[in-house]
Amino acid sequence: MSQPVTVTRDGNVAIVTIDNPPVNAMSFHVREPLHARLLELRDDSSVEALVLACAGRTFVAGADITEFGKPIQYPFLPEIIDLIETFQKPTVAAVHGTALGGGLELAMGCHFRVAEASAKMGLPEVKLGILPGAGGTQRLPRLVGPSKALKMIVSGTPIGAKDALASGLVDEVVDGDLLANAIRFAREKAASKATLIAVSQRDDKLAPVRANMAAFDAEIAEVLKKSKGLDAPKTCAQSVRNALTMPFAEAATAERNFFHELVKGDQSRAQRHLFFAEREANKVPGVGKDDKPRKIAKVGVIGAGTMGGGISMSFVNGGIPVTILEMSDEALKRGLGVIEKNYGISVSRGSLTEEAKAKRMSMFKGTTDYADLADCDLIIEAVFEEMGVKEKVFGTLDKIAKPGAILASNTSYLDVNEIAKFTSRPQDVLGMHFFSPANVMKLLEIVRGSKTAPDVIATAIAVGKAIGKVPVVVGVCHGFVGNRMLGARGAEAEDLLLEGATPAQADKVFTDFGWPMGTYQMWDLAGLDIGWRTRKSLGKTAAIGDALCEQGRYGQKTGKGYYLYPDGRTPVSDPEVEALIVEKAREKGINRRDISNEEITERMMYPMINEGARILEEGIAIRSSDIDTVWVNGYGFPVGKGGPMFWAELVGLPKIVERLDYWYGKTGKEVYNPSPLLRKLAAQNGSFADATKAAA
Ligand code: CAA
Repeated sequence: MSQPVTVTRDGNVAIVTIDNPPVNAMSFHVREPLHARLLELRDDSSVEALVLACAGRTFVAGADITEFGKPIQYPFLPEIIDLIETFQKPTVAAVHGTALGGGLELAMGCHFRVAEASAKMGLPEVKLGILPGAGGTQRLPRLVGPSKALKMIVSGTPIGAKDALASGLVDEVVDGDLLANAIRFAREKAASKATLIAVSQRDDKLAPVRANMAAFDAEIAEVLKKSKGLDAPKTCAQSVRNALTMPFAEAATAERNFFHELVKGDQSRAQRHLFFAEREANKVPGVGKDDKPRKIAKVGVIGAGTMGGGISMSFVNGGIPVTILEMSDEALKRGLGVIEKNYGISVSRGSLTEEAKAKRMSMFKGTTDYADLADCDLIIEAVFEEMGVKEKVFGTLDKIAKPGAILASNTSYLDVNEIAKFTSRPQDVLGMHFFSPANVMKLLEIVRGSKTAPDVIATAIAVGKAIGKVPVVVGVCHGFVGNRMLGARGAEAEDLLLEGATPAQADKVFTDFGWPMGTYQMWDLAGLDIGWRTRKSLGKTAAIGDALCEQGRYGQKTGKGYYLYPDGRTPVSDPEVEALIVEKAREKGINRRDISNEEITERMMYPMINEGARILEEGIAIRSSDIDTVWVNGYGFPVGKGGPMFWAELVGLPKIVERLDYWYGKTGKEVYNPSPLLRKLAAQNGSFADATKAAA
């Protein structure tokens, strides 16, 4: 293994290089030698300037997140940064790749920053439920000004080198050899003998804002609008504000205290769990390094409806041209028209230029002829959810697709093994289940059939990531991971109303929990007629749901469903629906009673956990953290609660089993019957992660 920190010399310039693959995180084994070498170099009179650089693919991408929650060993990152600031000779950070979190904080400890044109810089700690804890909330406002720093820190979004140069975060952007340029820059600074001012001592960008704190407080209120009940964004904003109201040292101490407070909280634990969960999801048993992804240069999409259109946009947005196939010219024209309209909305919002819109539209080719899909590397069908229809589509694809092309179904429920049988190449068939709106939602469930080849899975993961999705590999079952658990979550929704709850009460329990909307709001959005049709085809009924549909109340699209939608979007309780619920309960001889919020949680969310445990037990999900990744990225499960399985452990598995047992005893409904895995883990005080390890 190479040394994590080395010192080389280029004449009078010392170069300190950090080498800690894969992302040069500031682990203890980096901090210790870095601190020691910096002490030596500071006091070495033969050194006239220092360049801090990194080996490998990136500058330091942050503190080592795996060390969080454990006792952190000395030397700490803030001490190292403070030490750099004591240098009486120019210090220059040479930034390539991504300087993030503690990495950018380290770079800001230097007098100067020289960056490659492709470099990105940011403080993404908020996404881990914490704040930059090594002076970032204090130094960034001094370099780029409090307003920009506030936005960068509260959003966690990095900026590019050009923006960093314009805003004062970097001093030079170089196109050629980064290290050679950083050395040249350092040497020039040393030769100029100009006065060196540590970033912590700069004040010029703070003073004008101090003069109008009310305006800055208004900016804080604005950026916090999207903070979704999370603690970290508020704390980030408070800490940036402290830069304006406190001396540096005092504000930096407060920042450190905030950091320690947040890092031990459940929200940060949950968000760190999700960070690693998303990366873990890319590791699939049976898919190794030798399973090289196939090249996907052109994609075919069958169906230009809502799903097909959204899927096509996702690929085009990711730079991959798409051929869309429809049954008729009219349907094709309609579908392409909707896509163009969607891009038009982005233009009017300022997130896309007219030029970019034209370029994207030029990447779509419409056709009604299957033969035009013959040159596609990946073909995804998004047609009607009916096995007979899938049979026709896959049978035709088998005839026209080139050898090695991947054939995917966007089915939400159907058996992918069955679909694969309609072709002579089941090894090339899999499910690629996108979530609506497909051009926005990040989740991509990759459904692995019993014959799907490992390199086909590797390709789906790689192309999914390339177009900005979060891929999770799941097994074949009705509804896969997400929709199967969603079914369990909604199983008691009808009976809860009959027994005494109202849609508004139950939905409020969900939105208070942090979901973007409750079950009935979601149903209204999706359209109540879909479930009604399915129920009818299965010979099932739902007294309230059916009655609403019989009255033409299909949800938002008809202006009314469980709620009224006077403005087309905002749900308003409807006394007529409440009267209907009372009436249906009376018909069924149910005495309505007060239903507590706890009962709503127990009867909607606990069955969802139970179903998740079954899914894990059956091996449909590889690990419990995959289930969490599905729910956070596909269904809006609040990130601060880490996904359903992580949250279940916060609640306590024994408590969940105890309440499921209670409801199972009372109702006899299978949805409450605790899965053997859940029961076992609860009895052993175990965790879902233990179950995954045991299964591996
Ligand atoms: N600590 C520990 N491990 C890290 C890490 C970190 N800061 N950043 C990335 N890794 C690990 C990943 O878990 C992954 O490990 P596996 O290969 O074992 O799964 C590996 O490094 C590669 O990461 P990615 O797969 O994400 O690689 P990528 O090239 O797609 O992305 C990246 C690289 C943009 C740097 C991305 O990893 C990333 O965003 N990292 C986190 C950055 C971050 O949040 N920094 C702030 C840390 S907190 C902090 O610094 C607090 C402070 O104020 C002191």
